[in-house]
Amino acid sequence: MKQIFSLLVISIALFNCKTTTKKEKITGLITEKAMVVSAREEASKIGVDILKKGGNAFDAMVATELALAVAYPYAGNIGGGGFMVYRKNDGEIGALDYREKAPLAAEKDMYLDDNGNVIKGKSTIGAMAVGIPGTVAGVFAAHKKFGTLSIQEILQPVIELANKGVIVTKKQEARIKKYQPAFKKANKSLIILDSVWKENDIIKYNALAATLERISKNGRDEFYKGETAERLVKFMQANGGIMTLEDLAKYEVKWRKPITFNYDDLKIISMSPPSSGGICLAQIMNGIESYDLDKFGHNSTKAIQVITEAERRAYADRSFFLGDPDFVNIPLETLISKEYTNGRMDNFSFEKATKSEDVAHGTVEMIESDETTHYAIVDQFGNAVSVTTTLNGAYGSKMYCSDLGFFLNNEMDDFSSKPGVPNMFGLIGAKANEIAPQKRMLSSMTPTIVEKDGKLWMVVGTPGGSTIITSVLQTILNVHEFGFGMQEAVNQPRFHHQWLPDVIMMEPNKFDKKTITELEKVGYKINQKDAPVIGKVEGILVLQNGKLEGGADPRGDDKALGY
Ligand code: DON
Repeated sequence: MKQIFSLLVISIALFNCKTTTKKEKITGLITEKAMVVSAREEASKIGVDILKKGGNAFDAMVATELALAVAYPYAGNIGGGGFMVYRKNDGEIGALDYREKAPLAAEKDMYLDDNGNVIKGKSTIGAMAVGIPGTVAGVFAAHKKFGTLSIQEILQPVIELANKGVIVTKKQEARIKKYQPAFKKANKSLIILDSVWKENDIIKYNALAATLERISKNGRDEFYKGETAERLVKFMQANGGIMTLEDLAKYEVKWRKPITFNYDDLKIISMSPPSSGGICLAQIMNGIESYDLDKFGHNSTKAIQVITEAERRAYADRSFFLGDPDFVNIPLETLISKEYTNGRMDNFSFEKATKSEDVAHGTVEMIESDETTHYAIVDQFGNAVSVTTTLNGAYGSKMYCSDLGFFLNNEMDDFSSKPGVPNMFGLIGAKANEIAPQKRMLSSMTPTIVEKDGKLWMVVGTPGGSTIITSVLQTILNVHEFGFGMQEAVNQPRFHHQWLPDVIMMEPNKFDKKTITELEKVGYKINQKDAPVIGKVEGILVLQNGKLEGGADPRGDDKALGY
């Protein structure tokens, strides 16, 4: 908690300086007017070029999203979905849900065998794992409501990039190699990424260019009702999928009211259900607000304890209460209220870790009746968009439609296939997130915008499955509580707790040994093996002088560009 108007702040600031000046201060790209931060330089460049042409943040959203579909097939997509949170320069805020939906033929137990056990891989690899994609509908909805340039003008550089080709980076070379066995398993014939691709090779995506060309010419319905829809459904059904033309024709985005809450002098604006992101972030931040994190120190034993315990309780609630709000009643106002969370933290003590087995979801009076990529954009007019988009796993279901040039998601795994059985992120779900036709699966994606003193302050988000929420949290805290700049905040080592399994995951060899010993002493289990990287954050911070600082995560090939 930071009382910024008290004298205390001066001493805290000095303290922060002391703790952070040990290492040389790292600053991200600083620009005067506008910026795009994304997972690939090519996508950031196309987004910024649109801004330079006079397009606004929403025009740049369309361009960046589709450029990522070309340049970053690992997660960028037209075969997946996502969420956008926006804040316009007049302070208007909103959220767009273009999350995938379960097909009409989906059933509650579709991933269970005759004995009621989850069939390994059925919700993660191949055609049965695929939800109805929302990305094309998403970009068209954003453009229709707020865009200023024509779709053709926005898509033209994206189509050019696909035809011209994209340079393979070192990290991409390794990723492609790693997933080639899975590509072979999921596809009947060889796909473009089955070839040997080395750093600095150029991959041309001509089939995707042709698909984007048709979308540019014929609009949104090309993907949902046109020739592309027909070719996609033919491909899905030939591969044993259940997607139909009716599924595509029925797909609609939803404009949602974002989750908003205050933390000290910040107003946080984040994604509402069907993402759990905003609610969990609110619960965790409400739970930690009364503790003097800044005094405890960045990644200190006490700071990690408080954050972990708030996370534990929030994720327990997530698994019980949250799902698609169009299908289940979520006690949203209660869950994000300060009173509710304070009550949940009552039994926390610094002396002893709470056990997850002793934490269930909270008691809420139900008045009525829960591999991805992020990009952040600020335009010259002061509009901001924060978008997280995904195929779910790396390259989604690994199924690649060579005819149309894109991977299909495996988002169905974000549903709870069976109560109590963890999904690929170890998340446990319950009835609220069970499968039903046309339902949206619960997400952790947390595209977030933060205001300070009523003005735009930060645009932030990340991939990372269940670790998304806790990575966004730590990035905000790193700046607000611990005095880091945007790039520094993104670079800091991260940790994560999600109730079950009852462990603190830590990026390996980045945390103080003494801190780890102290945590273990009071009963925390630490896992430094299974999460070599937690999150891959992109952020933009509005500095006191009005300039923008980008934070592009060095854990990937991410890039901030602007002017
Ligand atoms: O919506 C979700 O929560 C997941 N499908 C996100 C997946 C993800 O972030 C994978 N990236 N590492």
